[in-house]
Amino acid sequence: MNVPEDRPQAAEEPELAELLSTHRDAFRERHAGAGELRQFFSPGRVNLMGAHLDYNGGPVMPTAIDRGTFLAIRPRGDSRIRFSSDLEAGTGEFSLDELPNARTENWFDYALGVVQELDQVARERGAHRALSGFELHFGGNLPVGAGLSSSASMCVGTALALDDIWELECPMETLVDVALQAERGFVGVQCGIMDPFAVGFSRPETLLWIDCKDASCFHLPFDARELVIAVADTGVRRELAQGEFNDRVRQCHEAFAILREHAPNAECLRDVPLEVLERHGGALSDVQRLRARHVLLEVRRTFEAREALEAGDAETFGRAMTEAHHSLRDLYEVSCPELDHLVDTAVAVPGVLGSRLTGAGFGGCAVILARRGVEEELAARLRESYRQDFGREAGVEFFRGSPGPRQTF
Ligand code: GLA
Repeated sequence: MNVPEDRPQAAEEPELAELLSTHRDAFRERHAGAGELRQFFSPGRVNLMGAHLDYNGGPVMPTAIDRGTFLAIRPRGDSRIRFSSDLEAGTGEFSLDELPNARTENWFDYALGVVQELDQVARERGAHRALSGFELHFGGNLPVGAGLSSSASMCVGTALALDDIWELECPMETLVDVALQAERGFVGVQCGIMDPFAVGFSRPETLLWIDCKDASCFHLPFDARELVIAVADTGVRRELAQGEFNDRVRQCHEAFAILREHAPNAECLRDVPLEVLERHGGALSDVQRLRARHVLLEVRRTFEAREALEAGDAETFGRAMTEAHHSLRDLYEVSCPELDHLVDTAVAVPGVLGSRLTGAGFGGCAVILARRGVEEELAARLRESYRQDFGREAGVEFFRGSPGPRQTF
């Protein structure tokens, strides 16, 4: 892996400081007792280009946002661990000596997965002393399940908090990998590398370019004085989205297994030339052909969008985002009427450069790239037309970038 290594430092914003103080109080209400309390913040992310490419070895262009997960943690003198949350019902209590070896179907499975992965890392690093138990209380200002990567935010944040109390001093690269393995292994989502990388390595006023084939990444300049990133939330949350997501992963892997016979040097679907799909697509099922077509066109679009960004051509970049949405709607079939409505409404507002669904799809949020100055009109138009067509509010937010996961107190 080749990743930017510096640990972020940030001047805290007053609004965030207040939310963190409330979160500290919430911890104390849940967990009686004395002892030093530490707090951490871990951001969410939006992805601007490269939809459903990470698990196909393609390039992606996400960035972290100034909303995320709050974590308050207190080490214990024994091996008990306790999870609680402002956002989810139910608490989890376990012993580090007897952790469950299969997921428990609870919200804290993500955190449990991280405990197991980091415990393994601690052993590999030769930590002979027993790791201390802890109480860990979650909260945050990121909508859960909205495609803003609340799960990777929680996993990377948990890894950072545990790294601190267990004094492991792991580099961010290791914590990001722990978060990824927790989600893939213990929780069982076949996700790509994009989300934990975006959470761990993004910096303000940049987009993170990740080449998911070799996990190399670097920062691309993003002109935050000229451009603004907005997110419009459909409010739709699909229970079955995880299964649908895993289906897309499988369909792409099946398509690659067939196409690679005609592209001997290809290591993943991203490597297959479009001409090979055009010539040999008949060997695929209709569904496999549609998925592969999205992937190969999106790879091309993402490289073109990067060139446009580097040349200061935000218009072309924005157009690529909207084309990506149409491909996600028609070829990848992960959109829904609510998302299509928000994208169509946004791009009709003067000053909006492009829009597409962000995250896995099946509901959640549309990300919008616009010129500064249109915020008020954009929010008003989205809210009004969504209310007219769907009879409820669409959440509209404007984000700043984030310096990444960090200790806040
Ligand atoms: C989800 C996954 C990511 C990525 C996106 C789609 O957010 O967790 O790994 O595949 O969907 O781009």
